[in-house]
Amino acid sequence: MNQDEMKRKAAEAALEYVVTDAIVGVGTGSTVNHFIDLLADIKGRIVGAVSSSEASTERMQKQGIRVYDLNEVSQVPVYIDGADESDHYLNLIKGGGGALTREKIIAGASDKFVCIADVSKLVDVMGTFPLPVEVIPMARSYIARELVKLGGRPVWRENFVTDNGNLILDVHDLKIMEPVKLENEINKMAGVVTVGLFCNRPADVLILGTPQGAKTVLSK
Ligand code: A5P
Repeated sequence: MNQDEMKRKAAEAALEYVVTDAIVGVGTGSTVNHFIDLLADIKGRIVGAVSSSEASTERMQKQGIRVYDLNEVSQVPVYIDGADESDHYLNLIKGGGGALTREKIIAGASDKFVCIADVSKLVDVMGTFPLPVEVIPMARSYIARELVKLGGRPVWRENFVTDNGNLILDVHDLKIMEPVKLENEINKMAGVVTVGLFCNRPADVLILGTPQGAKTVLSK
């Protein structure tokens, strides 16, 4: 089974978490794209979706899934999204696709966060995948210097603007031993919109696509 087939397996297994007659939160990325395509087949069972990116919104609308603004809905029972890395406690690095801020908002607003990924995303210590940080444009150089002080090597994701009109710094060379502490430290820098560490609000369920099929890991 190749990586894309494993992503599809994880997406298939996530369907059982979709709550009938309710809103589903939908993330961003290639794994979620599989989920959206599968969700289209059962769209009559749900009220609609809230979306973490313009790309996911467009994909859902093309398939006839109704997309609501988060402000229009009072409850999101479940949020389905991918990840760039997960540790065994379901702390995540997200934002490879640049949608981290809206992803973090919907994750926070949801009762249950189900993360779907192929098995290569599971790591013992996060940081091999460069940590995305969304910054207000005028703060880019200042925040980059602050991130160097934390031991990272920030690289400006050039020619990329987020859905919110901001920039991304991808921080290389981190070995994230204290993920909650690092999330809090980066979050409090003026000019940072969001850091792509999801540890204060980790996933509740991690569904991994493996060569043997989908495997579910629950938070401890
Ligand atoms: C988008 O900004 C990310 O957080 C994605 O969820 C993450 O990059 C996973 O993407 P893939 O499913 O494409 O690996």
